[in-house]
Amino acid sequence: MTATRGAQDFYGRWARLYDLLARRTPGIRSLRKQAALATRVEPGATVVEMGCGTGANLPFLRAAVGPEGTVIGIDFTEPVLRRARAATADYENVHVVRADATRPPIAPGSVDAVLATFVVGMLEDPAGAVDDWCQLVGSGGHVVLVNAARSERRRWYRRPVNALFRAVVVLSTPPTMKLRYPTDQTARLDERIRAAHGRLRERSAAVAETTHTMGVVRLTGGRIA
Ligand SMILES: C[S@@+](CC[C@H](N)C(=O)[O-])C[C@H]1O[C@@H](n2cnc3c(N)ncnc32)[C@H](O)[C@@H]1O
Repeated sequence: MTATRGAQDFYGRWARLYDLLARRTPGIRSLRKQAALATRVEPGATVVEMGCGTGANLPFLRAAVGPEGTVIGIDFTEPVLRRARAATADYENVHVVRADATRPPIAPGSVDAVLATFVVGMLEDPAGAVDDWCQLVGSGGHVVLVNAARSERRRWYRRPVNALFRAVVVLSTPPTMKLRYPTDQTARLDERIRAAHGRLRERSAAVAETTHTMGVVRLTGGRIA
């Protein structure tokens, strides 16, 4: 089984539980709202969410672009998309599409912003994907990434928080990815997230960054140069 197929099976099987966590984890609503605001989209704008999962960000993006704007959610796992479609059925201008976020069916320069939350850690070439997303929004557009990686804060809680994070990573990694990469999954995740956020910083004329949840969650928003 390929890593892509494995990820689809994994998220497909756990769609219901994932949806619950994606919407009910303490603090997650406020984080999603901040992520939507960081796209800086205005009413009437077009925003794309890559790897939208069960659609927990889509209502916040819809609120930002209003009834005149357009929200497109892209994901390659059908069962999570069914949940995203059901959750946004009341909005005519929210479209949920099955596609690969690394080859999105979107013309360069045709959207105002791209958001990707908890996705780049699953991509083989996260920096390359960020480059492509920067092309989609073009100069002056915004790309926003939210991801979890080990905390780098020099505080007493760093060790226990990172041990807990490591356990969560092991439990939530699709089995095919574990087989494919026998090396430390947490270190690989850290590396992918560092690469993606680093590339976004390089490509941006202006950057806004915040960290949350004891330094585990980081949000980087960039206005593309
Ligand atoms: C951890 S979930 C995050 C979902 C959502 N962004 C959120 O914040 O709740 C990762 C999602 O990314 C999707 N995904 C991973 N790689 C993808 C790719 N190359 N193309 C499209 N979707 C992808 C998975 O199907 C899954 O729904």
